[in-house]
Amino acid sequence: MTHTMDGVISYVISIFTCLDSPAIQENRVTTVQCLSGTGSLRVGGEFLARHYHQRTIYIPQPTWGNHPKVFTLAGLSVKTFRYYDPVTRGLNFQGLLEDLRSAPSGAIVLLHACAHNPTGVDPTPQQWEQIRQLMRSKALLPFFDSAYQGFASGNLDADAHSVRLFVGDGGECLIAQSYAKNMGLYGERVGALSIVCKSADVASRVESQLKLVIRPMYSNPPIHGASIVATILKDRNMYQEWIIELKAMADRIINMRHQLFDALRSRGTPGDWSHIIKQIGMFTFTGLNSEQVAFMTKEYHIYMTSDGRISMAGLSSRTVPHLVEAIHAAVTRLV
Ligand SMILES: Cc1ncc(COP(=O)(O)O)c(C=O)c1O
Repeated sequence: MTHTMDGVISYVISIFTCLDSPAIQENRVTTVQCLSGTGSLRVGGEFLARHYHQRTIYIPQPTWGNHPKVFTLAGLSVKTFRYYDPVTRGLNFQGLLEDLRSAPSGAIVLLHACAHNPTGVDPTPQQWEQIRQLMRSKALLPFFDSAYQGFASGNLDADAHSVRLFVGDGGECLIAQSYAKNMGLYGERVGALSIVCKSADVASRVESQLKLVIRPMYSNPPIHGASIVATILKDRNMYQEWIIELKAMADRIINMRHQLFDALRSRGTPGDWSHIIKQIGMFTFTGLNSEQVAFMTKEYHIYMTSDGRISMAGLSSRTVPHLVEAIHAAVTRLV
């Protein structure tokens, strides 16, 4: 195993674990190891700001709080497209299509590959296909953020569906990947940026430009965590063990969704809580407002982001009753 500036995991990325992907076989994908998901987004942003003809990136409204900062500091101009409908607590699909339709041709569009943070709301496969068709017809450049592959459904392939749909049409895209959650390597900062190009020649030129972005920023990535990832991805037995554990994690999160939903229903807490079981991934966008969140923090010592997002991974059967009491008190006292 060699350690180069593009890192030890540059040759294997689970988003393409179907190694028969034409993009991989035709050497049209360039991958550089980066500092987890955040660093991959930042390197991709810097590369685009330097070399891409459009400097505007559209991000979903809402999105992970760090996205606007990462891309603004990388030199891109950040705009938003509609994504979430607070009334249905689901996807605002019409709003999304309208906003992408009116984006300038060539603009960059940040898409969460799966398990959208903070809403837990993902497009269906049919909706992804419509998004793909619209984006390709307007030459919008997809930039996927894949921070939770395997955490949404428990299946790496199912969670890579959106990315593979775009890669499958032969067009260009960027993918920022994190192994922080799905391999439990948060502190090791392991991630990768892949750029799928139209030809092998472009991919090799893109790679040399990526190295020029990385060299003055942090020279090269740390070796230890990435060696763990590479060892697991290359070893059939370890890989099997990993996907079994990943599924157990995803199933536990889904189980916590059901426990919380059932407990709220049995408690008779006012409101329709079905979004808890419909949303996907680590987070639930509860719909609680900032006053209710502050009340729950003060009175029940329950901590969540002020937009009402809770991490399902942080819940256990033991803590569900306390959370339900807090939610019940919050929604009955503070409407
Ligand atoms: C949507 C999204 N993208 C990227 C990241 C960053 O991941 P990492 O910790 O690997 O930098 C996160 C982490 O919270 C996230 O939720």
